[in-house]
Amino acid sequence: MNPLAVKVGTLELTNPVLAASGTFGYGLEFDGFFDVAELGGICTKGLSLAPRQGNTPPRICETPAGMLNAIGLANVGVEAFCREKLPTLRERGVTVIANVFASSVDDFVRLTDRLSGETGVHALELNISCPNVKEGGIEFGKDPRLAAEVTRSVRQATDLPLWVKMSPEAGDIPEVGRAVEAAGADALTAINTIRGTSIDPETGINRLHNRTGGLSGPALRPIALRIVSELVAAVSIPVIGIGGVSTVNDAVEFFLAGAVAVQVGTASFADPCAAKKILDGLAELCTRRGVTVTELTGNGRTL
Ligand SMILES: Cc1cc2nc3c(=O)[nH]c(=O)nc-3n(C[C@H](O)[C@H](O)[C@H](O)COP(=O)(O)O)c2cc1C
Repeated sequence: MNPLAVKVGTLELTNPVLAASGTFGYGLEFDGFFDVAELGGICTKGLSLAPRQGNTPPRICETPAGMLNAIGLANVGVEAFCREKLPTLRERGVTVIANVFASSVDDFVRLTDRLSGETGVHALELNISCPNVKEGGIEFGKDPRLAAEVTRSVRQATDLPLWVKMSPEAGDIPEVGRAVEAAGADALTAINTIRGTSIDPETGINRLHNRTGGLSGPALRPIALRIVSELVAAVSIPVIGIGGVSTVNDAVEFFLAGAVAVQVGTASFADPCAAKKILDGLAELCTRRGVTVTELTGNGRTL
């Protein structure tokens, strides 16, 4: 028996360590570091219908225990992804979770239709931390009704496992989680970044051209862990933890809080092999303690 195997709804993963969207390109950029097919899966850079250049640089900066990014969702677009990236990922046996975003429900459904027609996409992850233009720019993920609407529409359009990525900026995150679960999500992923700002004290110039960016990295971890715990208590579908996972012990914290798997993001910028090292460390830990990852899950004593 493989002690690392986990089930995320109907999707079986060989292990619970995945690469987080936007921090791992399309997986192929990590050639020469390690075999990315060894990971439980990779979440692609967020895909849109049309290619996007993203924001004007500077668009990342370091912060204490983390970083800010205002990449602006630059990506090659879904067509180029399906034509140029997916065939290689498929050949190599990589478990691909296609992360998608759009500014309308219809465009989310168009992306879903396009990706559902391809073999080699194992699940969809909806990034709902983006504005809905028809609703005056309110982020889907901040409003339970909008989050449920987009989830329901995508659910009706595909049989692929559907993961919905929680915005940490919603007022009542468990309420959004419950709404998304009722609308047909197979799993929740939590969390996306939290907006922040950084100003150079010498020049007075904002370190990001966009002025604000998403905070990620270890600074986020206690918040992510709290939100994962709340979601695990609020819903019956699996929750995948993301936010500052840099070591195997960080991953274990999320399992103890009830997450069935983790995603590694910012840590891959400091060490491209971070996710692989966490995976190897987890295999070693399970052997040493004589436990499976599933046995670790949800065993935090104070929860
Ligand atoms: C440079 C950068 C780009 C990101 N792009 C995306 C994206 O396209 N879609 C998405 O859902 N999340 C995106 N994220 C958020 C990450 O997937 C993750 O939720 C967040 O960074 C917290 O995890 P971490 O602390 O391990 O990085 C991005 C994060 C970073 C740092």
